[in-house]
Amino acid sequence: MRLHLSVPLLVPHKTETEVKLGQYVVPKDTQVLVNAWSIARDPRYWDNPLKFKPERFLGNEIDYKGKHFEFIPFGSGRRICPGAPLAHRVVSLMVASFVYHFEWKLPHGKEEIDMNDIFGLTLLRATLLLATPVPFK
Ligand code: HEM
Repeated sequence: MRLHLSVPLLVPHKTETEVKLGQYVVPKDTQVLVNAWSIARDPRYWDNPLKFKPERFLGNEIDYKGKHFEFIPFGSGRRICPGAPLAHRVVSLMVASFVYHFEWKLPHGKEEIDMNDIFGLTLLRATLLLATPVPFK
């Protein structure tokens, strides 16, 4: 949800008033695309940003509910994803079931998965994922 956001560029939002943002002035009625993907990999906010380290979320307040702008996989504010509570439950349950019930094997003795993305309106894998589930006995 951080390194490979489903929606890397948050759908166009519009400024209701003129806004001063850092050294820029954004006029009223400007369409704004928020690059959540880049923010989620910015070394100013993340220690060793390209490393998958889920435990980085333990012991701090950062969550996905749109209040911590360094991590906004569901967007933020009035247009935040209304399906987030459902997605949270379904994705957690799905991933937990996958790792609890199966050992995952990669083809041809491969040890690493290519985690490169193709940037678009939604983020796609650069190469298809092929992994075989072997049920735990
Ligand atoms: C992991 C799953 C999901 C992710 C990562 C996700 C992410 C997002 C993001 C980033 C936005 C744009 C928010 C913004 O512009 O600030 C959005 C909007 C939206 N999402 Fe989701 N979403 C997910 C699942 C769902 C589900 C399960 C539903 C419905 C059952 C849903 C319904 C919507 C709708 C209706 C909007 C448009 C809200 C609006 O523009 O007012 N999403 N989602």
